[in-house]
Amino acid sequence: MEAGHTFLARLGKTRLRPGGRLATEWLFRQGKLAPGMKVLEVACNMGTTSLEMARRFGCSVTACDLNEEALSRARENQALHPAAPAVSFRKEDALHLSFSDNTFDVVINEAMLTMLPAPAKEQAVKEYLRVLKPGGLLLTHDIVLKDLTPAEIRDLTGELGRAIHITPLPYTEDGWRALFRDAGFAGTETYTGAMTLLSLPGLLRDEGWMRTLQILRRGMQRENRAAFLGMRRVFSKWHSHMGFIASVSRKPAASPVSENREPQKRETAV
Ligand SMILES: C[S@@+](CC[C@H](N)C(=O)[O-])C[C@H]1O[C@@H](n2cnc3c(N)ncnc32)[C@H](O)[C@@H]1O
Repeated sequence: MEAGHTFLARLGKTRLRPGGRLATEWLFRQGKLAPGMKVLEVACNMGTTSLEMARRFGCSVTACDLNEEALSRARENQALHPAAPAVSFRKEDALHLSFSDNTFDVVINEAMLTMLPAPAKEQAVKEYLRVLKPGGLLLTHDIVLKDLTPAEIRDLTGELGRAIHITPLPYTEDGWRALFRDAGFAGTETYTGAMTLLSLPGLLRDEGWMRTLQILRRGMQRENRAAFLGMRRVFSKWHSHMGFIASVSRKPAASPVSENREPQKRETAV
């Protein structure tokens, strides 16, 4: 079965995340992105965010994903903007990044942690801590739950899982904060709001008129209709309990991870 984000990308969607451009712009502001900063995007998919960071802020961006097809599309998208600073796209697993300790000023990860089981979330976030320079920033964007009983959470995740063909594990705001704190991050700040992935205002803001019409037209084609409407139905049913959360967290200047590791080539802290 096709995963929800692969399905939406096939319909023409370019931003596959719960809070769309609104949340991503907040992350960009928190990251204080600037020319020369070393940024890692994990789960870049077709490269929308990476290419935007390189083009708008002149950052040195490395972008990775597990999915080869998405990476091919990212490289094709890059070729459409030959004048922009090049992004290095590579296959990497968030749980076992190949980068050295203390490499990046910023790690950004949108709409991936929600899809992982708890131990994998913890492993990925520890990897982000490891590859960030002391003082570096982790920017994330995920689904957040609120005002639900444990039984309702089971219902919601079951329905969402059947709609997107992935077993999701979204957290409450406290849950997300605990994930980052327990991994060793400090000073987490968050921005939350309504899920806009498939709402009409969200589609228009993220994709523009032309692309929104294309997505809706393709979504309503006979072979896509059940899946498309099924996803919209789940988002709509749970809209007051399920939204987006964007977060920024800082790797402490003296992180336990960087202290306990073999000495690496040190780079200037942010
Ligand atoms: C919902 S999409 C989000 C894509 C993009 N960040 C966005 O916001 O539009 C999730 C992405 O996470 C990637 N992914 C899932 N598990 C991963 C892992 N362990 N390491 C790297 N990427 C992963 C998938 O291949 C997919 O491209």
